Amino acid sequence: MKDKTLVTAALPYANGKPHVGHIAGAYLPADTYVRFLRLMGKDAVFVCGSDENGAPITFSAIKEGVTPQDIVDRYHAVLSESFKGLGIDFDYYGRTHCEKHNGISQEFFTTLHDKGHVVKRSSEQVYCTECNMFLPDRYIEGNCPHPDCKKPGARGDQCESCGRPVDATKLEDPVCMVCKQSGREGKGCIEVRETTHWYLRLDAFEKDLRAYLDLHPEWRESVKRFSYGLLDQGLRERCVTRDLDWGIPVPLEEAEGKVLYVWFDAPIGYITFTRQYLESLGKEEEWKDYWYNQDNGLVHFIGKDNTVFHAVMFPGMMMAHGDYRMPDTVVSNEFLNLEGDKISTSRNYAVWVNEYLEAFSPDPLRYYLTAIAPENSDSDFSWQGFQNRNNGELADNLGNFIQRNLAFCNKYFEGKVPPAENISDAGKELLEEIEKTRTELAELFDGHRYRDALERIMLLSRKGNEFFSAEEPWKSRKDDMAKCGATIYTCMMVIEALSVFMSPILPFSAAKLRECLNIPALSAGDWNTDAVLKSGHTINTPEVLFPKIDDAMIEEQVAKLTPKAKAE
Ligand code: 2FM
Ligand code: ZN
Repeated sequence: MKDKTLVTAALPYANGKPHVGHIAGAYLPADTYVRFLRLMGKDAVFVCGSDENGAPITFSAIKEGVTPQDIVDRYHAVLSESFKGLGIDFDYYGRTHCEKHNGISQEFFTTLHDKGHVVKRSSEQVYCTECNMFLPDRYIEGNCPHPDCKKPGARGDQCESCGRPVDATKLEDPVCMVCKQSGREGKGCIEVRETTHWYLRLDAFEKDLRAYLDLHPEWRESVKRFSYGLLDQGLRERCVTRDLDWGIPVPLEEAEGKVLYVWFDAPIGYITFTRQYLESLGKEEEWKDYWYNQDNGLVHFIGKDNTVFHAVMFPGMMMAHGDYRMPDTVVSNEFLNLEGDKISTSRNYAVWVNEYLEAFSPDPLRYYLTAIAPENSDSDFSWQGFQNRNNGELADNLGNFIQRNLAFCNKYFEGKVPPAENISDAGKELLEEIEKTRTELAELFDGHRYRDALERIMLLSRKGNEFFSAEEPWKSRKDDMAKCGATIYTCMMVIEALSVFMSPILPFSAAKLRECLNIPALSAGDWNTDAVLKSGHTINTPEVLFPKIDDAMIEEQVAKLTPKAKAE
């Protein structure tokens, strides 16, 4: 953990609403990490923004019969609102369709071009004779050309099934998706024609990229496996321009009508947004601390399908440019499925964040998605699982422990924290457990093991509950008030510690809990601050932090996942 860290989360395309898969993949772990860093007293800057350029946006605009600008304006608003509602608290949430970003991306390209790392090539590309245009990668679908895959539904840039990059001209049985969207068949209209584009000489950095990966044995296995796999196959030049009219113009006279490939400009968005954020604070030069200085931290959070771009392509771009430092870590998650099926935007088979927030508060989802985080393998979201975790763990374990103690303190100690006296051996052990948890938990958060971190927090709560039950304060209050007070005092210490420990994952509930305890909201560095609760301190009237979720609420959500949406 470094003193200063820039944390980024993958820029979502501004052509759709965020769903639980996106949240579990990048945004929730990133937000959790930033909150943790701040509690540790570290300087953290957290940036993200809408990915508004390129083919995906054009494609949505064609489909809906509106302009690309309409699309990005609409979805930028939905994305911002959804993140805010879930407490994904970016310092800056920007947009890539803006002058500043155009300038920074063009400067990046020009530097690479001037250094000879981007070269002009004529190549064969897919052209549609019905649409009269070269088809960007995502406008063409077919069977995956990799001999050991061959699955249908592969796009011209990547195969969704095997995750590998695809050469669009090699797709088998290609279909023009623009034609399809416009009601034509989309078959038989595809030709391979020659066009000029600019290519990043990634192959020139193969050795350096391997050396860079070798420096990071601590990265998640899946990221390493995937990246070494690509290097083992040998890196090739990668086309970084497109024939398209929506995006950032290629800054070369001879490249009229061409734009930068969206995957070239999107990661540069991390730089743009850091600059925009710090400029908005009047600190024009400070972005360089994060982007030039390897002593500081740079951590990217991404979903699995973004791995190639963050672990190989963007580092390659940065090496080629020469001014920038390399990322420390790329934290990638596997896929989150939904009720045993793949989440699908096109089939409307998803749990959308905005719809979730109409029915529930944010923390139960943050809890559930952390508990089932697809850190090392795919995992499954189920509404039953969500209800079980909320009712059985948040309400019955954590909520119950807090509730029973606060209620007891109010009822039998006039809401005042009892004296720190006569602590039993079991009580002392529990107080030691708080410190053990603090140490172990910090390591888990720092190592991006959020699932284990949550379990560790719940273990402390469970131990608190067991202690409360074993001490039987409802009996001792009748004949041994000193013992009863010691029990409640000890539990109150655990509860205050829990309000700190759980706050990166459950920020809303942690804040509410601290209000119930009548103690100040958390601020930077509070991870290691001594307990504020003292004997004699008066707490507020407790409120239920984790209400149970009843069957009817769950049935309503399940009904939205129509069998039609699943089967299509
Ligand atoms: O997969 C996606 O949604 C991309 N828009 C992610 C871009 S991440 C980064 F490079 F900006
Ligand atoms: Zn494939």
